Amino acid sequence: MHATPEIKKRVEDLRREINHHNYRYYVLNDPVISDYEYDMLVKELEELEEHCPELITSDSPTQRVGAELTGGFVHIEHKIPMLSLENTYSKEEIFEFDRRMQRELGSKPKYVVELKFDGVAVSLIYKKGKLVQGTTRGNGFVGDDVTHNIRAIKSIPLTLLTEKVRAEALTYPIENLMNIEVRGEVIMPKGSFERVNRKRERENKPLFANPRNAAAGTLKHLDPQVTASRGLDIFIHTAPVPLKGYNTHYDTLMTLKKIGLKVNPDVKLCESAEEVTNYCDSWEPRRRDLPYEVDGMVIKVNSFEQQQKLGSTTKNPRWAIAYKFPALQVTTKLENIILQVGRTGTITPVAILTPVKLSGSTISRATLHNADEIARKDIRVGDTVFIEKGGEVIPEVVKPVIEKRTGKEKPFKMPSTCPVCESKLVRYEGEVAWRCENMRCPAQVQRRIEHFVQRNAMDIEGLGGKVIAQLIEARLIKDFTDIYYLKRENLLKLERMADKSVDNLLDAIEKSKTCDFHRVLFAIGIRYVGIHAAKLLAEKINSIDKLKEASFEDISSIPEIGPVVAQSVVDFFKDPKNLKVLKKLRKAEVNLKTAVVAPFRMRPLTGKTFVLTGTLVSFTRDETTRLIESLGGRVSSSVSKKTDYVVAGESPGSKYDKAQKLGVSTIDEKEFKELLKI
Ligand code: IVH
Repeated sequence: MHATPEIKKRVEDLRREINHHNYRYYVLNDPVISDYEYDMLVKELEELEEHCPELITSDSPTQRVGAELTGGFVHIEHKIPMLSLENTYSKEEIFEFDRRMQRELGSKPKYVVELKFDGVAVSLIYKKGKLVQGTTRGNGFVGDDVTHNIRAIKSIPLTLLTEKVRAEALTYPIENLMNIEVRGEVIMPKGSFERVNRKRERENKPLFANPRNAAAGTLKHLDPQVTASRGLDIFIHTAPVPLKGYNTHYDTLMTLKKIGLKVNPDVKLCESAEEVTNYCDSWEPRRRDLPYEVDGMVIKVNSFEQQQKLGSTTKNPRWAIAYKFPALQVTTKLENIILQVGRTGTITPVAILTPVKLSGSTISRATLHNADEIARKDIRVGDTVFIEKGGEVIPEVVKPVIEKRTGKEKPFKMPSTCPVCESKLVRYEGEVAWRCENMRCPAQVQRRIEHFVQRNAMDIEGLGGKVIAQLIEARLIKDFTDIYYLKRENLLKLERMADKSVDNLLDAIEKSKTCDFHRVLFAIGIRYVGIHAAKLLAEKINSIDKLKEASFEDISSIPEIGPVVAQSVVDFFKDPKNLKVLKKLRKAEVNLKTAVVAPFRMRPLTGKTFVLTGTLVSFTRDETTRLIESLGGRVSSSVSKKTDYVVAGESPGSKYDKAQKLGVSTIDEKEFKELLKI
C-alpha cells in the first residue's frame, strides 16, 4: 500500500488518540473508552503500519517492545547525581527537621508530602517530547541504560502530551517542558508480583522475595518482552532540574501529570509540620490497602528557591527527608509447631512464637499454612524466623533467618495421626492439606459449632469457644443442633454459668431462630458455601426444601455460583446425616426459608450499589448492610464508577477520597436516613 497523505494523517491521528487513551487509562486511572474500542484503535494502527512500514516511528504506541538486548548494559553517567534520602523513624524527628528548616531559612517553609514507593529509582530523559533514555540509579553517579525495558512499561509515555497542555493554557511555552529529565520509582504492584511468582512457582524457578526485588530483576532483564509481561508501573516524583518558569515542586508535579507522566494522586501540600505528621500518620494504617508497597513517606520543601538555599550533602539533599513506617516484619524465635484441626478436618500447622510486638499488637502465634509450605521455606523448630502481618489478620511466618542457625533446629515432620482424635490423616491427590476424616473428632465438632454461632452466621452471643468446650465436655451437645435443645437446669450446672448468663444465652439462642435464611445456610457449613454464596443461593432459591430438590444445573445457573459450589450443595443434601441435622433444626423452629420480600415498589434501592466507610451513630455496619439489602440495594466493599452512593460516617477512610475523585455521591448519616425515609 502506498502511504497517501490521508493514510499518513490517519496514522498520526490514531497515535494521538491511543496516546491520549493510554494516559486516561494508565496515568489518570480513568478510561473513557472500553478495552474493546481501545484494542480496535491499536489494531487499525498496526494494520496501517504493516501495510506502510515507512510510516513506523520509534515512538509509535505499537513499538514499545523492541528486540532483546545483547552484550549487556551500557553505563550512563547521571548529569546530576541521584541522591538518596536521610531516614527518620519518629514524628519527633519530623518536627526536628522542620525546626532545622526554619532555622536555616529564617522562615516557615511549605512541604510536599508523598508516599515513599518501594521500588527501583530510575531517571527518564525526554528530548523534543520523546522518550530517549531510561537509566537505573546504579551507585547514584553511574547507572545502567535500561531504555529497552523502560519503553515496555505502559504507564511511561513514549511521547509527552503537548496538545493537552496547550489546551490547558499554561503560562509558559510548552517547549520548556519538552526537553526534561524526570525521576521516579519503578514498582511492581502487589497483584503483578503475586501473578509473576505463581507463574515462577509453576515453572520451578526461584521466587522473588518481594515486589522491589521483582521490579529490579525485571528492569535488568535483557528481553523487553519479559518486562512487558510483568505488569510494572511507575510513579514520577522529581524533576532534578527545575522546569523553566516553575518555582515549586508541587506545581512541577501537577504539570508533569498534565503532560502525560504518571504522578501519584496522594501528593499533599502541607502548611505546617503538624499537618505533615498528621498526613504521615493517616497513611500508617492505610498503606496496606494500597495496590503497591510503600515503606514510608517523603517530605520535601516545596519552594525551589528554598531548596537551593538549603543545598545537599554528598549523599542527601538537605531539603527532604524520608519518614519510614514501623516494620511490618519482625524476627522472633519459633518455639514449637502445633497442629490445629479445622471445621472440615483440615490440619493447619501453627507456629508458637516467643511473643513479639508487631505494628501495635503482641504476636505469639502465626500460621504456617501447610506442611508443603514449611518444607518449601525450610522452616525448622528452634529457628529465628521473620513474621509478617499481611492483608489477613492472622500473621504468617515468612522465612527462617538461616544465618542464625545453631544446628540444633529440628525439621518438621507431619504426624500420621490426628493430634486430637488420633485417627489416621489422609491427603487427597492435588490437595496440599492433610485431613482428619473423623466427623466426630472433638476438634472438628467444636469448630463446626463455633462456625455455626459466629456473628456472620447465627450470631449467638455468649457461646464462645470456652463455653462450647464445656458443653461438649459435659456431653450436653454433640453438634450444633443440640444448642436448641439445651435445658436451663443443665446449663446452670456448668462452671461460671450463673442465672443471668444462662438467661442471656437462652435468649440469644431463641433469637437466632428467626435470623435470615442465608445466615442459616452459611451456618450449617456446606463446603465452599461462604456467606456471599449463601446470600446468592437464598436470593434465588428461597427455602431449604426447594434447595434440597434443586439440581446441579438449577444451582449452577445462578450468577456467580460456580460448579464446585453447586456440586457441593447437591452432595450435601444426599448425605443422610445432613438431612437429620436439618430435621432437628426444623423441629426447633429455626428459620429455613427466605422471608417474603417487600414488593418492588417497597424496595426503593433496587439496582443501587452502596459502599460504607467510617462509623455511623445509629447503626452498626451489619445493620446498615441488612437495611440496604432489605430495601433492594447492594453493599459493595470497594468504590468504583458504578457505585451509586458512598455512605460516610465518622472518620471515613480512603474510600471517601476515592469517591470524591471518581465523582461518586457521598452522603452522610443524615442524608442516608433521608434516602431510606427513616
Ligand atoms: S525524592 C534527592 N520521592 O527513595 C532524592 N524519592 O532513599 C529525591 N523514593 O532514591 C528522591 N519514593 O528512589 C523521592 N516520593 C518519592 C520517593 C522516593 C521513593 C526513593 C527514591 C530515592 C530513595 C531515597
